[in-house]
Amino acid sequence: MPYISQSFIDDLPNQIDIVDLINKRVPLKKSGSDYRAPCPFHGGKNRNFAVNAHKQFYHCFKCGESGGAISFIQKFDNLDFVEAIETIATECGLTIEYDSNSTPVDPRIERYRALSKKVGEFYMSQLRNSPAKAKAVDYAKSRGLSGEIAKRFELGFATPSNKDLLLHFKDNEQELADLKTLGLVKEGQYGDYDFFRDRLMFPIHNAKGNIIAFGGRAFDKEVKAKYLNSSESVIFSKSRELYGLYHARKNSRSMDYMLVVEGYMDVVALHQAGITKVVATLGTATSTEHLQILIRTTNVVVFCFDGDEAGRSAAWKALQNSLSVIKAGATFKFLFLPDGEDPDSLVKKESAKAFEKRISKAQTLSQFLFDHLQAEVDFNTIEGKTLFLEKATRLIKLVNYKAYQQQLMQGLAQVVDQNIDQVRSIAEQQAPQAQDSSAVYTDIDVDYEHLDEIDMSSFSDSRHYPPVRKPPASQVNMKALMSKMITLLLNYPTLADSTTEVRVRAIENSQVLLELVRSAQMNEDISQSELIKPFQDKQGVYNRLQQLCTLEPRLSEVQARDEFLAILTAIENQQKSERIKSSIHHAHTLKDQQKIMKGILKAKRKA
Ligand code: GTP
Ligand code: MN
Repeated sequence: MPYISQSFIDDLPNQIDIVDLINKRVPLKKSGSDYRAPCPFHGGKNRNFAVNAHKQFYHCFKCGESGGAISFIQKFDNLDFVEAIETIATECGLTIEYDSNSTPVDPRIERYRALSKKVGEFYMSQLRNSPAKAKAVDYAKSRGLSGEIAKRFELGFATPSNKDLLLHFKDNEQELADLKTLGLVKEGQYGDYDFFRDRLMFPIHNAKGNIIAFGGRAFDKEVKAKYLNSSESVIFSKSRELYGLYHARKNSRSMDYMLVVEGYMDVVALHQAGITKVVATLGTATSTEHLQILIRTTNVVVFCFDGDEAGRSAAWKALQNSLSVIKAGATFKFLFLPDGEDPDSLVKKESAKAFEKRISKAQTLSQFLFDHLQAEVDFNTIEGKTLFLEKATRLIKLVNYKAYQQQLMQGLAQVVDQNIDQVRSIAEQQAPQAQDSSAVYTDIDVDYEHLDEIDMSSFSDSRHYPPVRKPPASQVNMKALMSKMITLLLNYPTLADSTTEVRVRAIENSQVLLELVRSAQMNEDISQSELIKPFQDKQGVYNRLQQLCTLEPRLSEVQARDEFLAILTAIENQQKSERIKSSIHHAHTLKDQQKIMKGILKAKRKA
């Protein structure tokens, strides 16, 4: 598929009227130089949501949501970046321009893919030809894998030797260096060695069928890590890839549902049983990006988890992440297997038919939502029911798809046997609050007020300020903004470049961020743990960074960059205005104050 040209994207704000675009969705009223409405993102009655035609920008002074036309349509219509551009283009009668030469921007990508392909072929040939192959072949047989399925998934063998792969590529320096970047060869005290040894190898394909990484299954029970994965790189990100997606598309007649399971072996075993509409996450929770990919592939996503505690909690996490992603035509379902079984073991025990019957009977999201929350409280007491209502409404409010949100509210009213207006009023009374650690990120409370404008009235009485004041809201915000930027950077080290470095250096109290920006620039493939390692000695900072590492911004890289730069600008403006406020505050005579004010007005006119 061709890429939308960057120049078209850049020029889009000049081609459209953001006020018009938003007004179709949220009726706006003119107010001063802005257009205002109650905020469509956090709700409420006050007109905190401002759209500025001149800047082609929207911003909520209460919840901090802000951005341009594309970002608004993405959030409001719940679309991905490309879909949002397509929607805008259609509504505004523009013809999208595509790049004719859609060659990958990064030359490493082609190289890494070609090398990964060669490595895959090497492991496959070892499964056929290595003198040590008996162990691998026996293991595959013991797990019931047929030759045909091994071939379909291009399974391979990493021998017990620690230099076979290395020797195979020994004559090509570039390839050796790339093998290290991809985590297939490691540097040790006694020289380089193969990362995967004595393992059954599962190549990981992207949706187009290119090999982009590997997983390796240990043969022996005693081995510490049952599975190993090669490193994340420009061609491989665990939160974006689904094992088996390529094979599902290739081997299935329809995509009427997609099963999401936990393991490589589950995918492979189900294929062998003839169930091919199946993918696995790569040992991580189901991310928002996974969910976006899934709902572009099918209308019905069925999460399949083990019936044990771990399975239930993984399913709950998937449910929470699903809420904001659901849109018209997309359904999420939940299938719980009997305790102690996984799809691989169960499909071998039962027939494929029986397993398919389980799939067709999977729980709906609403059932699971209400059941799970009911089990968390003492539902037979008024207190328990209150808590249940609190928890349920908070989650339902995360649903962006309005029609579905209404139905969930209706369903909730039935469960508690009350009328919908009562339930709604509970939802409306709630202050926005973080749900869990992953939601904390999106809910960080940012008060952008006065970022851009100086409120003259607040200075009129400056001499009477009490000498000690609470830290101004802006300082608290600054911390939240800084955390947000760090989280983005930890997830997308490529955000760091020399321009950002210069800007970050100019910000007050930005040492940690600055350090991270510098490290990220030196090595784009750097892992999160490597990035934060230099802070190991500073316990407090290190703990906080580790916390931030667990947060996943639900954004694409492009969105992440937009957000990162938007926050950077916001901080710059905020610090500028703080400096001006303080200089006015310290101006002793009225004349000095007036002089500073004049300066501000002049600067504003220029801007
Ligand atoms: P088998 O035991 O071979 O049947 O594997 P499984 O797929 O049933 O494994 P399990 O359900 O225990 O784990 C599910 C998935 O989590 C695996 O497919 C891996 O992707 C990942 N995983 C499990 N154990 C490890 C591990 O030790 N290290 C890493 N990196 N990932 C693991
Ligand atoms: Mn298993």
